[in-house]
Amino acid sequence: MQQYQMQIDDYLKTLSLHRIRDIYVQEAENAANTKLSYQDYLHRLLEQQVLSKIERSINRRTQLACFPQVKRLEEFDFAFQPRINEKLIRELSTLEFMTAAKNVLFIGAPGVGKTHLAISIGIKAAQARKRVLFCTAEQLTQDLAAAEVSGNLNKMLDMTTRIDLLIIDELGYLSLTKQTAKLFFQLVSKRYEKGSIIVTSNKPFEQWGDIFAGDEVVAAAILDRLLHHSYPFLINGKSFRLKTINK
Ligand SMILES: Nc1ncnc2c1ncn2[C@@H]1O[C@H](COP(=O)(O)OP(=O)(O)OP(=O)(O)O)[C@@H](O)[C@H]1O
Ligand SMILES: [Mg+2]
Repeated sequence: MQQYQMQIDDYLKTLSLHRIRDIYVQEAENAANTKLSYQDYLHRLLEQQVLSKIERSINRRTQLACFPQVKRLEEFDFAFQPRINEKLIRELSTLEFMTAAKNVLFIGAPGVGKTHLAISIGIKAAQARKRVLFCTAEQLTQDLAAAEVSGNLNKMLDMTTRIDLLIIDELGYLSLTKQTAKLFFQLVSKRYEKGSIIVTSNKPFEQWGDIFAGDEVVAAAILDRLLHHSYPFLINGKSFRLKTINK
């Protein structure tokens, strides 16, 4: 064994089988002690290599998603927000909605858990090795406007269609201009029936005209596309933030 060790290390490095490189000597000792067959030994090494590859890919997807915080579904207290359909949220966490390019909309007052739920579904998607991108509506529209100015709008729209799940947070806290409203429409239109969007907003649908610079036509066109295949959650409840302050 030892006479080949340096060469084996080199081969494994060349093949980028780093996990196997880290463990094969120890695993060989274990295999000898427990009388594992050659096949079992090889199986163990390959299994560890594959698991490490999956873990790295999940970490990478999670990093690229740009989540502002880590929020997990397991930490969400459904008893505090009884108006939320827990069963449906759990169904969404299986990501079935993404295969049908359906959207999810969380609408409600500050602190009711919209961003928390959006992130936790996003994390599930990243763990399933989907391409996820989290951004605020403000960030996204600024980026769209900058892309238009620099002549890269189509490139940016194409890039966003390659994302499996786009999460747009805080739509409605800041009003868009007429121009950015049109850009937002283009983005929603491009993803329509192709890729899922999760939107969080503090504004009920009837006030969406206000978000889009009073342009009711654009607002209606955006809502129509977002809602067509969607799971809207209207969360009428208390702020979790206030609960923690009052304690
Ligand atoms: N039901 C809940 N169980 C556990 N934590 C919760 C719950 N609801 C909200 N939180 C926590 O309370 C804080 C506020 O929630 P979140 O950011 O999701 O609110 P929001 O609805 O997005 O509010 P805003 O409109 O102000 O952005 C977060 O730290 C979140 O993790
Ligand atoms: Mg929020």
